[in-house]
Amino acid sequence: MRTRFIVGNWKMNKTASEGGAFVHRLSQELTHHAGIQIGLTPPFTALHAVREALGPASAFLLGAQNLYWEDKGAFTGEVSGTMLKDIGCQFVLVGHSERRQYFGDQDGWTNKKVLAALRHGLQPILCVGETLQDRESGQTDLVIQRQLRAGLSGIESQTLSTVTIAYEPVWAIGTGRAASPEQAVPVHRLIRKTLNELGGADIGNHVRILYGGSVTPHNIADFLASEEIDGALVGGACLDPVSFATLAKVA
Ligand code: G3P
Repeated sequence: MRTRFIVGNWKMNKTASEGGAFVHRLSQELTHHAGIQIGLTPPFTALHAVREALGPASAFLLGAQNLYWEDKGAFTGEVSGTMLKDIGCQFVLVGHSERRQYFGDQDGWTNKKVLAALRHGLQPILCVGETLQDRESGQTDLVIQRQLRAGLSGIESQTLSTVTIAYEPVWAIGTGRAASPEQAVPVHRLIRKTLNELGGADIGNHVRILYGGSVTPHNIADFLASEEIDGALVGGACLDPVSFATLAKVA
């Protein structure tokens, strides 16, 4: 059985003090969430404040939005897995489409980042997704397979089952135009099939695959109705603690 996972991607939103206040409000709204995991990915500058606000016994998981693959050195502006682990992160997003689109994170880099995360005991969430142009030109499957094969290259089967994948169609991100479950489910199936090809027989069944792209408290149930969809990576609807708590309660 795969445990459901709901992750809030704050992107470049919230200061450290706003992050702390968010956690206090979220904890009031969502007093228990047995059976599912909830993750928060504040910006780097708010990680410490959010960790402090969560406290040592929190059931919420803390994650970062990116990492660099070297452990330390002359890499101005970058943050390593060592640093994320030290500040209390348990997981990290890799290859979000905004990283790919605006900051040049190509497939080779996502692979180095996934490997670095695993080396530091951080659970990577590898994000994959096609653009509207890819979809309209019938390239969705090719793009998803390429991103998966490249991003997960060199990972042993056993380790592969600890990775999480987020399927985020680029055209659905921040547009209010979520993919329909009918559009998302075949891609989730393709991801599982590709994972099986990469890691052997049944690996795909052990890997959690989240859907992301305009997920709200109103449509989350439609996605989770499919057994292919193990949770969600949420942007806009995670920024308000009441909205995020409502979404988590539905999940
Ligand atoms: O990583 C989450 C994301 O890209 C989706 O954003 O605002 O469409 O929920 P949003």
